[in-house]
Amino acid sequence: AYNLKGRNLLTLKDFSKDEINYLLSLSEDLKAKKRAGIEGKSLSGKNIALIFEKPSTRTRCAFAVAAKDEGGMPEYLGKNDIQLGKKETVADTARVLGRMFDGIEFRGYEHKTVEILGEYAGVPVWNGLTDLYHPTQILADFLTLKENFSKLEDLNLVYTGDGRNNMANSLMVGSAIMGINYTIVAPEELWPDKDLIKECKKTAAESGAKIEITADIKDGVEGADAIYTDVWVSMGEEAEFKKRIELLTPYQVNMEMIKLTKNPDVIFLHCLPAYHNTETENGKKIFEEYGLKEMEVSDEIFESKYSKVFDQAENRMHTIKAVMTATL
Ligand code: CP
Ligand code: NVA
Repeated sequence: AYNLKGRNLLTLKDFSKDEINYLLSLSEDLKAKKRAGIEGKSLSGKNIALIFEKPSTRTRCAFAVAAKDEGGMPEYLGKNDIQLGKKETVADTARVLGRMFDGIEFRGYEHKTVEILGEYAGVPVWNGLTDLYHPTQILADFLTLKENFSKLEDLNLVYTGDGRNNMANSLMVGSAIMGINYTIVAPEELWPDKDLIKECKKTAAESGAKIEITADIKDGVEGADAIYTDVWVSMGEEAEFKKRIELLTPYQVNMEMIKLTKNPDVIFLHCLPAYHNTETENGKKIFEEYGLKEMEVSDEIFESKYSKVFDQAENRMHTIKAVMTATL
């Protein structure tokens, strides 16, 4: 076993390939234990702060249920509940929470905030999504890949859509570390930051992963084992809808794209929440304005046998439980 006690998870760069493999096998053990109805005590006596500047279903519930399952106590702190960054500096809040809690999850806007929390809290800090990265999601995604293909190395993972967001970035970082071939298929305006690409290519040279960025859909998706997409407009970017819809409509994951993979066993992944039909309040408004019925993924694919999105969602809980038990 690896000793990860006291460690932060701000981006996947914080962990080595072996450490990530260890977290994934710990997740498998915890998942089996949960299925068997066995309760754990690995977080007994641990108090866990959950700070949310942005809304969340999966991440919040994954942390809360995981903590409870292992005997810990989760406390939800919404953006209007605490002084963070408004009446009190992030560094001061970090030092206060660090005196009372054993671990702190943060979801919010600026990545800098989670870095300051990590620097000052004195207890493990886990990134539950920032504008730049979403590392705990990637652990769930990789567990899902492992469950489907029994390996990670040499898989071809294709991400299409907004190639500059937290998901595109984090999948690139994680793939580079783990030896997964990673292709971003996106219009050039939405390619990732050049420095991040350079950094990931350097990491990939060690693991043997190939990192490619292309605007060409046919070329990019051929041979994919998994097609991954995310919302075209992330939380906090709502002013971008018009532009993103114009740029990304050709990049929708639909049956045509699935066929272009030429792989009958390809799977579809999405971190969720997804715009795949008109049944949500936000979706309805946006779709009416732009004459759409769905966005980043067609309803047909979302509901198809290719789709593993609810396995991913469940795996958030098992992998987050692994992160907490390993670092506390
Ligand atoms: N995938 C994910 O992070 O979902 P939530 O925004 O619901 O937490
Ligand atoms: N890119 C999305 C991910 C949501 C889990 C967002 O930041 O809104």
